[in-house]
Amino acid sequence: MSRVFVTRRIPQAGFDALVEGKAEVRVGQKNDEAPVARRVLEDGARWCHVLLSLLTETVDRPLLSANPALLGVANYAVGFDNVDLAAATELGIPVSNTPGVLTDTTADLTWALILAAARRIPEANAYMTAGRYKLWGPNLMLGADVSPGGSGHRKVLGVIGFGRIGAAVARRAVGFEMDVLAYDPYARDGIDAHPAARWADLPDLLRRSDFVTLHPRLTAETHHLIDARALALMKRTAFLVNVSRGPVVDEHALVRALQDGTIAGAALDVFEHEPAMEPGLAECGNVVLVPHIASASTDTRDRMAIMAAANALAHLAGECAPNIVNPEVYESPAYRERLARRP
Ligand code: DGY
Repeated sequence: MSRVFVTRRIPQAGFDALVEGKAEVRVGQKNDEAPVARRVLEDGARWCHVLLSLLTETVDRPLLSANPALLGVANYAVGFDNVDLAAATELGIPVSNTPGVLTDTTADLTWALILAAARRIPEANAYMTAGRYKLWGPNLMLGADVSPGGSGHRKVLGVIGFGRIGAAVARRAVGFEMDVLAYDPYARDGIDAHPAARWADLPDLLRRSDFVTLHPRLTAETHHLIDARALALMKRTAFLVNVSRGPVVDEHALVRALQDGTIAGAALDVFEHEPAMEPGLAECGNVVLVPHIASASTDTRDRMAIMAAANALAHLAGECAPNIVNPEVYESPAYRERLARRP
C-alpha cells in the first residue's frame, strides 16, 4: 500500500481525502503544540512514499536523500522555503504547495493588522479588559488614519512582493481611498496592469509609504530585505506589516527602530526565529503580534488540507501534481528511477 507520512496533524478533510485515495497514513506528531522530533521526521521520511510536511518542518537534503522510494513532498502551505527545492529537484523529487486558496484570507489578515496597528486596537482592548476606562476624552488612544480621515490626505500603501496576495491586499486599499505603490522585480507587468497599484523602486516606496506591507517569497535575495538601512528610509510616522516570512525582516534592527522611533509601529504575523521573538520585541508598545495566523480560517485551512492531500495522491500515482513547484523534475532520470520503485 502507498504510504503518506503527515508530519503533524492537518484538518480532518485532508486525512479523509488521503484515506479515500487508499493511502496508508501515519502522523509524526499528534500534539498540536509540540514540534516533530527530528528522529521521528527521519523515520517517517524513510517509511513513506510521500511526505506531507508543514512549514514548521525543515525538509533538507539529508532528509530527502534518505529514501530512494520517496515520490514527492506535498507541503501544506503556499510558501515552501522550508523545503530544499534545489536538492529535491536534483534528487528527482517533485514538490507541491497550496497556492491561491489562502490569498483572500491572508489579505484580510494583512488589513486587520494594518488597522489594528494604526488604531491601537490590542492596546485599547487591553485597556478595556483591565477595567481602566473611566471617562471618554479627546486624547484617549489617539492613532493614525488609514483612509484620508481628518487630514483629508490620501495615505500611501507600499506593497512589497506583488504575487497573488500582494495584489489582493492592493485591491482592498481602494476602499480606503489609498494610493498604492508596489515593488516586485519579478512582477513588473502585474503591477502595471493592476487597477490600483503603481510601480515604485524599493527606496522610493519606503520613503513615500505610510504603511509598508511585505508579501515576497523568502529567498536568499529577500532575506533581511528590510534591514536597518531600509527602516531608516521609512517615515517616522509609518508602520511596517509582515505576513510573509520572518527572515524577510532583520528583527533585531526592527526592535531598534521601534524603540528609537525610526518608525511608528509594526504588525507581525511571522518572526525571524519563529516561534521565538527577538528580545525586546514583545515589550515594544507600538507592535501588534500574532502567531502566524494569516491563513487561519476554518474554510481555508480545510481547503489547504484537501489540496495538499490531492497533491500527495498525485505524487503517489506518479502523476503531475496539481500544484507542482518544480515541474522540470518530471523530465529527470532521477525521477524516473524513483517511479520505477513505485509500489
Ligand atoms: C503559507 O501557506 O505559506 C502560510 O504561511 C501559512 O498558511
